[in-house]
Amino acid sequence: MKRTENFQFAKDKADVTEAIRTRLQNVIPDIEWPIHAPLIDAIHKLKSEKNAILLAHNYQTPEIFHGVADYTGDSLGLAQIARKTDAEVIVMCGVEFMAETAKILNPEKKVLIPDQRAGCSLAESISGQDVRNLKKRYPNVPVVTYVNTSAEVKAESDVCCTSANAIEIVEALNSDRVIFLPDNYLGKYVADNTDVEVILWEGTCEVHEKFSAKELQDYRSSIPELKIIAHPECPPEVLAEADFVGSTAGMIKYVDHERPSSVAMITECSMSDNVAVEFPSIQFIRPCNLCPHMKQITLPKILASLQELKFEIQVDSLTADRAFTAVNRMLDFSKK
Ligand code: 13P
Ligand code: SF4
Repeated sequence: MKRTENFQFAKDKADVTEAIRTRLQNVIPDIEWPIHAPLIDAIHKLKSEKNAILLAHNYQTPEIFHGVADYTGDSLGLAQIARKTDAEVIVMCGVEFMAETAKILNPEKKVLIPDQRAGCSLAESISGQDVRNLKKRYPNVPVVTYVNTSAEVKAESDVCCTSANAIEIVEALNSDRVIFLPDNYLGKYVADNTDVEVILWEGTCEVHEKFSAKELQDYRSSIPELKIIAHPECPPEVLAEADFVGSTAGMIKYVDHERPSSVAMITECSMSDNVAVEFPSIQFIRPCNLCPHMKQITLPKILASLQELKFEIQVDSLTADRAFTAVNRMLDFSKK
């Protein structure tokens, strides 16, 4: 997660957009710039007028990620920022579960999502009732829940996790068995990397489940020096082909640390564009599986969100209090 440089050149409107345009010239064609520039200017102006911060997930498009975000990061990083911000308004450029997590962690703030259709196939895969049924079936087995879930599901859980800390959280519970929800592939990855028995659910990410081991083998045979880094929401046979497995922030750290000559990021499309801007000397092979939910968020919708303070996230206080315990416990574990 990083503080973007937008504020540093925010003094003069023309300079702001020109600096961003130059930085993004390899990922945004010049012909598109007259469409983005006025929106970027207007969003910067409204952010300071409304005392708002804009948090953007690594899967947001470059004009959002590099153009208007104050903070960028993985699910864990965005939750950490949401918990401690002093801003009055948080605009979540990501998906609904991220906005809900921000509201749960910082309930006094107005938390907005620019499009209410920004859901998630993992969050859709499980309900609070499903978790209650599992708890009856496996009494006294702790429930570890991926943040990619509704507030109702978090409220039924003992602790949350993200892809950045799932193994650490499962091990920290000191239990022989855990129920791990809802991502089947992330759960299998955790099971392969711990001695803890993991009871799984059948949820999958509609973006990462599409990758195949064959696709990765083909990349490797065409480019022998290629480093392949994959998100743990991918199927196990895909992860087996990867040189590194990690959360989106973990992938960025890998690229920064290892500086491979060429890299394929086996995750959502926009991530490679965003990281390529930071590392112009590295060649990125850009497999393109789009998250239709992340792509609901656009510059015009962010502007409308700030202008009309919509769409505000609400979580009822009983659910929010119980969900807070699970999410906050994760953040506390992650500090240790
Ligand atoms: P992370 O950024 O936490 O790795 O999550 C990936 C993802 O799919 C979020 O929707
Ligand atoms: Fe959900 Fe997958 Fe999209 Fe992330 S990439 S929001 S896990 S559907």
